[in-house]
Amino acid sequence: MTDDTAPLPGLPAPPPPGARALPPGTYAGTVVLVTGGGSGLGKAMAAEFTRLGADLVILGRTEERLKAAREELAELSGGRVVVAVCDVREPEQVGAAFDLAEREVGLPGVLVNSAAANFPSPAEDLSPNAWRAVVDITLTGTWFTTREFGRRHLAAGTPGSVINVGASYAWTGGPGYAHSAAAKAGVRNLVETLAVEWGPYGIQVNGLVPGLFPHPDMPEAIRSGLEDAAARGELDARQPALRVGEPRELGWAATFLASPYARFISGHTLVVDGANWQRRTVVAAPVTPVREQLGREPFHG
Ligand code: HXC
Repeated sequence: MTDDTAPLPGLPAPPPPGARALPPGTYAGTVVLVTGGGSGLGKAMAAEFTRLGADLVILGRTEERLKAAREELAELSGGRVVVAVCDVREPEQVGAAFDLAEREVGLPGVLVNSAAANFPSPAEDLSPNAWRAVVDITLTGTWFTTREFGRRHLAAGTPGSVINVGASYAWTGGPGYAHSAAAKAGVRNLVETLAVEWGPYGIQVNGLVPGLFPHPDMPEAIRSGLEDAAARGELDARQPALRVGEPRELGWAATFLASPYARFISGHTLVVDGANWQRRTVVAAPVTPVREQLGREPFHG
């Protein structure tokens, strides 16, 4: 007999912080370059790679943030952590960051493209420059770093692994996020193209899509909405898992995808979101226009 009054359990909690998903030393001797690695989910993924022995190169736009992240990450394993100030929209800066990596720690064997830009907006409000900023960072920046990585490995004849961080609205469209959703669709498509083009050279290319992983570095516009829901006790209840994700769970997935144990996985995008993106209701809720959801005034052009 089941107890009708007992709360549903949802998906079990993950192992504690510090646990590793793979054998110790899996990444010993491997350099892992993470764009956007100075904060948020990029930093969380970098942490799991270095716990497994990787040397890190973390790229970001803000030197202070990168230096703070270096302190934090260096404590986790004693592995080397190189920081490079780099705007991924600028191909010369991307090239310089790879040069620095090669000089200091060696050519990265793993590239994690985590740098992205985003803010919610009704599509009709987006200025040309706002569109460009998000698409240039999220899609074009991902291509510039991947291009640099691929060209260097092809020239050296060495294998490598790329992970592009995506978003589930690459498949579904993203009302309120037209710019980011379009860019992430491009990022996912790039995974599928490059996995085939570069497979013969030993380069794996995969995608990794995070669900809801609240963290302190989330942009204010996104975080404040989540905090309101959390204050009402609704955040977990909105997920089929009945809980949100812990950033280390994304990190464990990344370390698996780029590891020797996943060498035959390429061109795949792994969604780590407790099935949230598949969620549908039997009876749809009434439609609320994006402007209204975001509390914006009527559009006047
Ligand atoms: C409307 C905005 C805006 C906002 C910037 N812009 N923020 N418009 N609402 N909140 C507009 C500016 O007005 C400007 O257009 C143009 O965008 C460029 O802004 P700048 O600040 O000059 O440029 P820049 O610093 O290059 O880039 C801004 C940014 C930045 C890209 C939006 O805020 C950023 O990098 N954010 C941090 C990273 C981030 O968001 N990570 C989260 C990724 S999460 P005008 O016309 O005025 O010149 C993710 C998937 C999650 O990607 C899914 C969640 C549902």
